Parts: sequence; structure tokens; C-alpha cells
Amino acid sequence: MAPQQTIPQITASGPKQVTIVEVGPRDGLQNERVRVPTETKARFIEALADAGLTRIEASSFVRPKAIPQLADAEALFGLLKRRPGVRYSALVPNMHGLHRAEEADVRDIAVFTAASDTFVQHNIHMTLEGSLEHFAPIVTEAKGRKMAVRGYVSTVFGCPYEGVVTPEQGIAVAERLFALGVDEVSIGDTIGVATPGDVMRWLRAAENRLPLDKIALHFHDTRGTALANVLIGLEFGIRTFDSTAGGLGGCPFAPGASGNLATEDLLYTLHGLGYDTGVDMDKLIAASQIIAANLDHMLPSRVHQASRVKSCLPVGHL
Ligand code: COA
Ligand code: ZN
Repeated sequence: MAPQQTIPQITASGPKQVTIVEVGPRDGLQNERVRVPTETKARFIEALADAGLTRIEASSFVRPKAIPQLADAEALFGLLKRRPGVRYSALVPNMHGLHRAEEADVRDIAVFTAASDTFVQHNIHMTLEGSLEHFAPIVTEAKGRKMAVRGYVSTVFGCPYEGVVTPEQGIAVAERLFALGVDEVSIGDTIGVATPGDVMRWLRAAENRLPLDKIALHFHDTRGTALANVLIGLEFGIRTFDSTAGGLGGCPFAPGASGNLATEDLLYTLHGLGYDTGVDMDKLIAASQIIAANLDHMLPSRVHQASRVKSCLPVGHL
């Protein structure tokens, strides 16, 4: 039997196309201590598009004092050379954010809430219920202007303030977001606590209630389980995953911890399983290098690190 035939479920059925939503310039950089010059961010994003990524979350139109790392959103979108066929998105927290996004000619926006009330209160200063009411007119206006709208649900597998979060909590919030009219919901393991068992239980509970073809999974690799979690997602037919180039990010609650699942590591695994992403690994690594030079730590991506080691070894040593 050929080796690939011995991997039954993951490769057996379902579409072979996987979409990677590159969230490094937003989720990654907002959790980095350093400030990256706007011009470097633009070069980084252009290189990500050159590598074949078709969905890139570039920045946030949030309060600059809240997230100073992304305070240059207008300047960045002004500088960015946009490639046809690539969707560049941004987070908007309120009507003011939506109007800033429109002014910057951004066609893809994301609204964001969470599965746990305390997290929402800390993040955007309103209750979970209040956030859903608050985002309703924003989604309506954005859809009226033919924008694509993503909804984020953070803390789906655990909350830094409340601890345990049940599947029901996240599913109910995702249902409410779809009812508002969002095109897609990203299910976030914000603090990187989910195990494959948790993801399996969550997807089993969700599969008859949510349109899984409109669900993206968003893992942080704080405890090294992100890739294993992706495999469970693939088995349930999920074909959209969020990740950050180089594993950019980190976690404000756990200094030194690794950030989001790294795009390089996701790509390596997906390609090894025979999935098509349209992304070129060498070009992706080159894009991550642009940002690596500006950071105060090594990029955590294992594949990225291995590529650097390989180039240092003498020829014939591999
Ligand atoms: N863009 C720029 N400035 C904004 C803004 C936006 N989208 N929304 C609010 N502000 C400004 C207001 O103009 C006001 O400014 P002023 O003090 O000079 O008058 C100030 O922020 C306070 O506004 P207020 O409406 O009282 O909001 P708030 O202080 O309760 O902040 C958020 C709420 C959500 C706007 C803010 O906390 C935020 O942007 N947080 C970032 C959340 C985030 O990105 N988290 C990470 C992603 S999960
Ligand atoms: Zn995240």
C-alpha cells in the first residue's frame, strides 16, 4: 500500500483546497513589544501576497491608544501596493472604525467578540450581549456597501478570566453572528489551551448547528497543540485556518510563550497531507524574514527555524 493510503480520514475525502488567512500583520504584530515601521509592514504584506496568500489581515481601525502597534492603519493601507485577487482585511470595533476602513478603501472587515463575557468587557468595554447588539448596525452597513464581513469569537476553548468555556457558549455566539449577516466566523483559541479532544467535542457539538464551510479555526500554539487541532478540523471538513507568518505574536498573558500557529508549520503539514494552499514555502519564509529583522526575539515557527539552520550547514551535511 502506498504511504498516503495509510492515512485514512484526513486525506480520504473532502475538498483538497485549503484557505489560509494570514493574520500576522494584525494578530501577530499587535502582540509584539516592538513597533515595526509602516514601510516595513507594507513590504512584509506585499511579500506575503507574492508568496500566494490571498487573504491577509493587515491591521485594525481600533483606538490607537488601545493598540499602539497598529496605530498606523491609514498610513499602511495608503502605502500598500495591493495585488488583484488578494483580500486585505482589517478589524473594526465600532462605526468610527468602519468609516475609517471605508476611507482607507478597505473592502474586508472583521468584527470581534468572545465566548466569555469577562473577556469582552476587558477587550471592548461592553458585555457580550451588548457587543452583539453593538455590532448589528455595523454589519448591516458593511454588507449594504458590499463589504465582506468576518466575525471573530475569541476565548472559545478557555478564557483567561473565567477559565472553562463550554462548547455551547461559543456556538451560541457564532449563531448570533451569522444571524447578524457575517459571511464567516473565526473560532479562536485565544490563549492556546485547546487539545485535539476539545476541538473534536466542539466540532461535534457545532456540526449540526453551524455552517462548517463558513467556519475558520484560529489556534494559538501556546501549548504546542495547534497543528494537532488543525488535523481534527480537517477531519470535520474545515478548510479555512488562520495563522501568522513565522508564528509572529506571543501572548500578552504569558510572556515568552509562542504566538499563533505559524503559517510555515501549517503549510508544511497541509502540503505533506496533499492539500493545496497556493502558497510557496520559500517565498513565505522570505516574507517572514522581512519582519524577523525587526523583532526582539526569534520567530517561533519550527519550519522557519529549520530553514535557517539548513542554510548554515555545510553542503553534504543534509
Ligand atoms: N478609532 C480611533 N479612535 C477611536 C475608535 C476607533 N475605532 N473608537 C474609539 N476611539 C476613540 C474615541 O474617539 C475616544 O477618543 P477621545 O478620548 O480622544 O475622545 C476614545 O477612543 C474613547 O472612545 P470610547 O467610545 O469611549 O471607547 P472606549 O474607550 O470604551 O474603547 C474600543 C472601546 C473598543 C474602541 C477600544 O477599546 C479599542 O479600540 N480597543 C481595541 C480592541 C482590540 O483591538 N483588541 C484586540 C483584538 S481582539
Ligand atoms: Zn488570535
